Amino acid sequence: MEIRAVTDDIVNVKTGAVIVNHFKGVKRPEGAAAAVDEALDGAISRLIKQGDINGKLNEITLLHSLGKLPAERIVIIGLGKKRELTVDKVRGAVAETCRWLRQKGVTNLATILQGAGINKINTESAAQAVTEGALLGLYTFRRHITKEENNFKQVKELLLVGNEKEKPSIERAINRGQIMSEAANWARDMINEPGNYMTPGHMADAARKMAGDYNLKVEVLEKEQMMELGMGALLGVAQGSQQPPKFIVLQYKGSSSDEVDVALVGKGITFDSGGISIKPSERMSEMKGDMAGGASVMAALIALARLKPDVNVTAIVPATENLPSGTALKPGDILTAMNGKTIEVLNTDAEGRLILADALSYAKKLGAKSIIDVATLTGACQVALGNVCTGAFGNNQELASRIIAAGNEAGELIWQMPMYDEYKEQLKSDIADIKNVGGRYGGAITAAKFLEEFVDKTPWIHLDIAGTSDTDKEKGYLVKGATGVPVRTLANFILSMSKQ
Ligand code: BES
Ligand code: MN
Ligand code: ZN
Repeated sequence: MEIRAVTDDIVNVKTGAVIVNHFKGVKRPEGAAAAVDEALDGAISRLIKQGDINGKLNEITLLHSLGKLPAERIVIIGLGKKRELTVDKVRGAVAETCRWLRQKGVTNLATILQGAGINKINTESAAQAVTEGALLGLYTFRRHITKEENNFKQVKELLLVGNEKEKPSIERAINRGQIMSEAANWARDMINEPGNYMTPGHMADAARKMAGDYNLKVEVLEKEQMMELGMGALLGVAQGSQQPPKFIVLQYKGSSSDEVDVALVGKGITFDSGGISIKPSERMSEMKGDMAGGASVMAALIALARLKPDVNVTAIVPATENLPSGTALKPGDILTAMNGKTIEVLNTDAEGRLILADALSYAKKLGAKSIIDVATLTGACQVALGNVCTGAFGNNQELASRIIAAGNEAGELIWQMPMYDEYKEQLKSDIADIKNVGGRYGGAITAAKFLEEFVDKTPWIHLDIAGTSDTDKEKGYLVKGATGVPVRTLANFILSMSKQ
């Protein structure tokens, strides 16, 4: 889809549908809606008066222009109460409207800068939100559908209508919104791909391809190198699978220093059957998305490569399947991680923390100044926070607060969880340094306490996206399947570092 800034008057734009808005509790059309209303001889005013247009959030009203305007259709979207408007509601309303129009076969759209000037939302953030709402909301995953549905036509063009003076900032916002959404959609494509396509080898190929496309350094460690480095925990998980594990390292260099400012570590389990501690078969298929953390850190690097902040960021993705077989890891086995710590594996389904143990040790060895890991780590986190918030855990409050702020900006909600040392007691093993499960209660926290053992004092945040990485409902700019959380949060966070 092409997104462009145009500076025409809204009543002069020739397109399939022009999108204006109405707020709840407002008596008559305002701004662009008023201009359109006048051209339509008061049609919008009348619908408001009669109560057919109420302005509640995500309300969609379609009018035909019947030749009174160059645009074929007018759509009035409800944005709710003015003082409750947020940038994220703009993203959502634009997404729902674009999908609704696509379903009607309308492929050329134009919109005003929804929400600009309301509740301190400026032109630039409104334009970015509109861009993101459209691109994220119109996302589809159709690669494996061979029968072209004859009524499916993707939207081709979206015009953002503003005034001449605003044009440079609208164009900047479109560019940024496009980069953010395309990165998130890239991650969605990776995550939606089933396990037979998205193997560890395929993840490594995707890393090499993106490194070529965006001029990043890439290194993929093979099994032999993992053995040399002593990555016993990752190798333990991989030993049940026929697919060779890959340890992916991608480097974005935005500053002239040789230091790694941030290491982004992502869980790359391309399919999680649970291993010998096998999962129930119902909904096991969802575990094709257990590499969402890995895909998101890779996607964040694409956004950085395009936006070029002056920060050095390295993405690290340990990639393997978790399968049961005659060579698989067994409950009770003891593994030695790269940092020398021994782990008693009491449940082979708690595999994410095992592969992350080596990846975090590797990030430490690189000398990363701070570490953020992203993982679909625990069902317990989903139980605790539902599908609304990502769980944040860590050893550094400043870093946590800044990542939560970056998440708010993206509309990707994050809630911080406690990290009291009392929880660590649940991980005491009788025969090794630590065990990989902490019992029934506080499972998301004990998982985070496990990870903490491998970062020592380095400022570190762990994001558990088990509840937020995919969705079974279409809602706002989220469509069924992978959400792309927290790609835009990570990119926002790194950009905020470079601003200092
Ligand atoms: N990948 C799962 C966690 C998960 C569950 C992600 C649901 C998304 C949705 C992880 O590897 C896992 O199996 N965790 C176990 C840990 C337990 C054995 C301590 C879990 O949550 O049940
Ligand atoms: Mn598991
Ligand atoms: Zn898993």
